[in-house]
Amino acid sequence: VGAIVLGGAGTVGVMWANAKLDTSGKVDFDTPLAIPPIAESTPDPSGARVFDLEVKSGTTVFEAGRETATWGINGNFLGPTIRARRGEEVAFSVYNGLDEGTSIHWHGMHLPAVMDGGPHQEVEPGGDWTPQWTLNQPAATLWYHPHPHGRTADHVYRGLAGMFIVDDEESDALPLPKTYGVDDLPMIVQDRNLDDDGQFEGGGSIMSMQGILGDRIMVNGTLGPYVDVATRLVRLRLLNGSVSRLYNFGFADDRLFQVIATDGGLLPQAWETDRLQLSPGERAEIVVAFEPGETAVLRSHPADEGYTGPLGRVNGADDLLDVCEFRAAAALTDETSVPAAMGTAPDLDPADAAEERSFSLAGFNQINGEAMDLQRIDFGVREGTVELWEVSNADGYMHNFHVHDVQFQVVSVDGAEPPERLRGWKDTVQLVPQRKYLLAMRFADYTDPDLPYMYHCHILAHEDSGMMGQFVVLGEGEEIGAVPAGAAHG
Ligand code: C2O
Ligand code: CU
Ligand code: CU
Repeated sequence: VGAIVLGGAGTVGVMWANAKLDTSGKVDFDTPLAIPPIAESTPDPSGARVFDLEVKSGTTVFEAGRETATWGINGNFLGPTIRARRGEEVAFSVYNGLDEGTSIHWHGMHLPAVMDGGPHQEVEPGGDWTPQWTLNQPAATLWYHPHPHGRTADHVYRGLAGMFIVDDEESDALPLPKTYGVDDLPMIVQDRNLDDDGQFEGGGSIMSMQGILGDRIMVNGTLGPYVDVATRLVRLRLLNGSVSRLYNFGFADDRLFQVIATDGGLLPQAWETDRLQLSPGERAEIVVAFEPGETAVLRSHPADEGYTGPLGRVNGADDLLDVCEFRAAAALTDETSVPAAMGTAPDLDPADAAEERSFSLAGFNQINGEAMDLQRIDFGVREGTVELWEVSNADGYMHNFHVHDVQFQVVSVDGAEPPERLRGWKDTVQLVPQRKYLLAMRFADYTDPDLPYMYHCHILAHEDSGMMGQFVVLGEGEEIGAVPAGAAHG
């Protein structure tokens, strides 16, 4: 499968439904996996830790002899890993060195709407944005990426994304692998199409049905990556940073690994599997064991759950892709373990719900029959209350659902217990066609009647096309306000 021609929505869907990609055994793992540097920070007089982030354009060599035009943060492609602790106050200076507006959204973060970095916090070219908040959530693997209205897919595809790791005392005290870049590896997994000149293909064409599906897989910006490991246990922080592609991670030899964390942080107990499916925006932490001297290949396998709709399987659900090779040293140290008890289980009681809402996703650009409108606040939730959201995929295509500001609990899928991979705190959940997901979430701490948070499909072409809505968190007695004029850019 070579270049994918972007045409009318229907054409693209049909092409993708028929295009099965199999790169197993065909990727030369000849480049050491890049590890994003930990972002530097300096304390300011108030005690906040200040991070400087500069969004810019540049070029990157992904393959010898070819320079690709890319965007990056404090570099030419992707951004540094931001790492901070629960209870710390963090402050950012985000400078936009691009020729167009962008924003930086902190995906998975519980924070005031004005700091959220969504479409209402766009930064003008040459402009600076300085959000500041206190981290108040358990240790987790979060991420950051732009969220400009209608252009999120394009900005992420060009290279704007990075990891945001939250630490806390509980996670520090666990015997898990935790040496960054050694036995605790960030894995930003993305797909790209490179044209004959080595340029990203399809970067501007985001209005097709499924968005961009690339035939080359990169991890942290490395094509054909390998990692030398010297410990028996290695922790992988997997982030599906793709704009459209679904991954079903598993090793070529089908070995079992342990899943220790979901989007919102550590699970109470690890569980074992040979496959783990992640849709765009989702994260998971896994721990895998290696034998001395062996080589193991991480792949993305055809999806477990059915996506067959009118146009067949989409979002790359049929593909078999080589992702990364692990090369174990002849002798491995063995000082870490997966403890029997780790994080806390989601404990929301659906019976406590103050409000029930339903959301139906269909047509790749609508929720409940309406496309996103930056000036329309769809509803207000009450601070401190639990809500139950019934989210249905009314289509034959895959969607997923992401809510800003909170981590939610998947209560049920079509009325049944959720599968193991959907237990634990989540901020993004995959929606299999024609299924209903019941989500419980609690809104706390930050109220603002005028500035909304977003909920949307994280298949970025769908988000950009309008499969998104806005809600505000209201304090006692507050009423829904109006988005301030000038807050939004379009
Ligand atoms: Cu990861 Cu509203 O986004
Ligand atoms: Cu988000
Ligand atoms: Cu969607």
